[in-house]
Amino acid sequence: MKAIVAVDLNWAIGCKGRLLISIPEDLKFFKSMTLGKVVVMGRETFESLPGRKPLKDRHNIVLTRTGNYTHDDLTICRSINQLFNELAKFPTEDVFVIGGEKVYNQLLPYCSEAYVTKIEDTFAADTFFPNLDEMEDWQLVAVSDLKFFGDTKYRFTKYVNKRVME
Ligand SMILES: NC(=O)c1ccc[n+]([C@@H]2O[C@H](COP(=O)([O-])OP(=O)(O)OC[C@H]3O[C@@H](n4cnc5c(N)ncnc54)[C@H](OP(=O)(O)O)[C@@H]3O)[C@@H](O)[C@H]2O)c1
Repeated sequence: MKAIVAVDLNWAIGCKGRLLISIPEDLKFFKSMTLGKVVVMGRETFESLPGRKPLKDRHNIVLTRTGNYTHDDLTICRSINQLFNELAKFPTEDVFVIGGEKVYNQLLPYCSEAYVTKIEDTFAADTFFPNLDEMEDWQLVAVSDLKFFGDTKYRFTKYVNKRVME
């Protein structure tokens, strides 16, 4: 299982149910990594998707405890246990945890890799990703060149979890 996320300099990821910024190249990267794969997200993140529609050409799994929550083309899981039963149907390397904060916090210990787009800016925020640079188990293994979107600078990075091998 892998995590994929875009963070600012404070490891912030969202504000008021939305992304901090949409960088087209980052959205393309996200799509290229997750297409044909399984994406796991919290109910809040699902509801932030354009048109509240599942991501196309991916197996969408949404975690929620909200009663009777259903939607076409979604698999609903009501607990982490139920999620792991569902994920047993898929190769673990095909599973991407796509947020938000509450879901990353619960599933990060099971992730072998994290694809982190680091935006070199700070934003007002209310949701965060754990700071992997301060976590012993996680090691930075790849950093891209500096990229630009207007005045915004960012880099694609990859971390591996030394405790989780796939
Ligand atoms: N920058 C990025 O890459 C990125 C990626 C994704 C999301 N985000 C941002 O993150 C923010 C949302 O994060 P969030 O932490 O507020 O919400 P979230 O993690 O997306 O969703 C939280 C909800 O998921 C459900 N849930 C969580 N754990 C569960 C469990 N163990 N069993 C059953 N249901 C569970 C609950 O839904 P119920 O309340 O229905 O029970 C909970 O309220 C948004 O601003 C979004 O834009 C950013």
